Amino acid sequence: MSRGYVDLHCHLLPGVDDGPRTMEESLEYARRAVEEGTELIVATPHVEEVEVRELPERVAELRERLRRERIPLAVECGGELKQGSVPQLGNDELEILAHGPAGARWLLYEVPFSGFSEEFHAAAAELRRRGFATVLAHPERADGFGAEAADAALHRELDQGAVVQMNVGPLCGFEEAARDRAARRLLRLGLASAMGTDAHPPERPYTLRMGEDAAVAAGAGEPRSLVEDGPRRLLERGLRLDRSAASHRAASA
Ligand SMILES: [Fe+2]
Repeated sequence: MSRGYVDLHCHLLPGVDDGPRTMEESLEYARRAVEEGTELIVATPHVEEVEVRELPERVAELRERLRRERIPLAVECGGELKQGSVPQLGNDELEILAHGPAGARWLLYEVPFSGFSEEFHAAAAELRRRGFATVLAHPERADGFGAEAADAALHRELDQGAVVQMNVGPLCGFEEAARDRAARRLLRLGLASAMGTDAHPPERPYTLRMGEDAAVAAGAGEPRSLVEDGPRRLLERGLRLDRSAASHRAASA
């Protein structure tokens, strides 16, 4: 039974990064997301721009406002991590940003616009050593994605148990054509486990309904799995480091 969209990547917290500037802007987007069928959003500010230890309190403030405004949206605490910030963060901070049950914790790890690099792989390896699997945020936005070298780099991470979170924007044609093509390619190859809005309201107020509609139009086999079942499964079951991406998908299918 359908319960609603689950968004693993959204800049929903007010006044912390390049997302909403005010609580009102956050609430306005929350209302729209709920109207369009979203049930749960993981608030994922850019980790480099926040004090991680303050995030649970900021999420609690937002939840309280949602409750008072009678906006039926669940919000979880998370963050979007860049490769350069991995060595700066303590394990207690990573725990604040991570999801999934014990033994299957994972982090939202951004593929840089500049593409995959040895630094990217090294920081991902450090996260694994520290006990965290990775959900790779929007590889389709990276320069050169779709080229042979980038494919090999992506599979290098997938082989270590990572999974892909693609974005709504490129698939909807809101970004450059190369990213649109890359997004369609991810869909065609079945490489994405979840779609996230990466919304930055009010400028980029994308919703998962927009993403599902675009995935349907693009001929995706199981569009609902990208916007509801896949992300929900990641939150509830997590990602195990001792299983390959392929076996994760097979086991959770
Ligand atoms: Fe983001």
